[in-house]
Amino acid sequence: MLKILTIIGARPQIIKAAALSRAIRADYASKIQGVILHTGQHYDENMSQIFFNELGIPPADHKLNIGSDTHGKQTAAMIKGIEEAIELEKPDFLVLYGDTNSTLAGAIAAVKMGVPVAHIEAGLRSFNKSMPEEINRITCDHCSTLLFSPTVAGIENLARESFPLHGKPPFDVDHPGVFHCGDVMYDNALYYAALAEEKSDILEKHGLNKSGFVLATIHRDNNTDIPERLESIFSAILRIAEDHQEKVIIPLHPRTLKMLDKQLSPGLLGKVNSASHIKIIPPVSFLEMILLEKNASLILTDSGGVQKESYFHHKACIILRAETEWVEIVENGSAIIADADEEKILAAYDHFSKNPPRSFPPLYGDGKAAWFICERLLEGKA
Ligand code: UD1
Ligand code: UDP
Repeated sequence: MLKILTIIGARPQIIKAAALSRAIRADYASKIQGVILHTGQHYDENMSQIFFNELGIPPADHKLNIGSDTHGKQTAAMIKGIEEAIELEKPDFLVLYGDTNSTLAGAIAAVKMGVPVAHIEAGLRSFNKSMPEEINRITCDHCSTLLFSPTVAGIENLARESFPLHGKPPFDVDHPGVFHCGDVMYDNALYYAALAEEKSDILEKHGLNKSGFVLATIHRDNNTDIPERLESIFSAILRIAEDHQEKVIIPLHPRTLKMLDKQLSPGLLGKVNSASHIKIIPPVSFLEMILLEKNASLILTDSGGVQKESYFHHKACIILRAETEWVEIVENGSAIIADADEEKILAAYDHFSKNPPRSFPPLYGDGKAAWFICERLLEGKA
């Protein structure tokens, strides 16, 4: 039996873990034993527990309850807790997702204890080291024994950093295995889209019509913490809502909600709060999010996950960042990088209103990335 210890902590990691958990339940229950550690990086009901309930993820075996703090304190507390769990569980692999502080903590704890790391979402790069996520993902990749890249761009980035692309097992941290495997979030998008239709009434609840609204999410630290950037994004949203009479629904990350009053100018804050076409709501469940994405006319986001889901559900996406790791959707013409620039956001809105993207070639695998990963983990057991 292969024993894997999966580290989750932030919302997108909990959702990603659902894909592997589903594959193990369906086809590997007699071969892979999954143990889950939740760092507690995200802890509000609608940022954490809601996904366990909705996506059938087994409850975490270890809960560190670390919560929010500075990067150093938060990551240090996680490393300590993960180290203790590794000591106790003695896993064959530590499985890590993405690029959060929970990912970084897992990578450091495991590599120093000689436990092989499997990194899902390896190879992504923004080439912007002022992003905490860029530091986390580079560090994690270089501590990993198995690197699972969702995209061709990810594989190319790893090749540029001298990772061997055609290595043969046995793998270890100095001789890692690099795989192009598709995206576990594409697995999830396919699987949960049908379920979302049955289980959610979010459109009715908010009076939304098919293709009759724009969906927006904002949470990146350099958007929430730099007042001019947040002001510019919300000014653009206000103009989309008022000048174009477009409903804009914004399931807002708690980080951003806490910053709105502090960072927006009183004039803009008042207008946003009283605009009948702007609806700021608490974070929604994953099934609700899928329905919003599937039915939106257009998506504005700084989220990595939501950028891709726009593509999965064949929607145009305006990226509220200066760069993206998901370069292929920009190259495809279905996403535009507008940064936090009011005029660029409005120009992108205007462009997509007149020219909605129609072509979405498969870029993220075949919906079976989690199965591929399980196979490689089994082959990799020492
Ligand atoms: C983290 C990740 C980011 C990821 C995002 C997904 C890092 C460095 N960043 O960013 O890569 O895109 O998760 O959502 O790991 N908060 C709550 N309740 C919660 C969680 C957070 O109120 O359940 C608030 C707290 O005020 C906290 C702030 O959000 O200080 C930021 O949370 P944190 O986990 O540090 O970073 P995120 O911005 O969520
Ligand atoms: N998501 C969700 N509810 C929300 C907002 C996002 O379920 O209210 C999902 C979204 O569909 C995607 C993931 O959370 O699968 C993205 O997480 P987030 O934007 O927090 O982080 P990122 O992907 O940028 O790291």
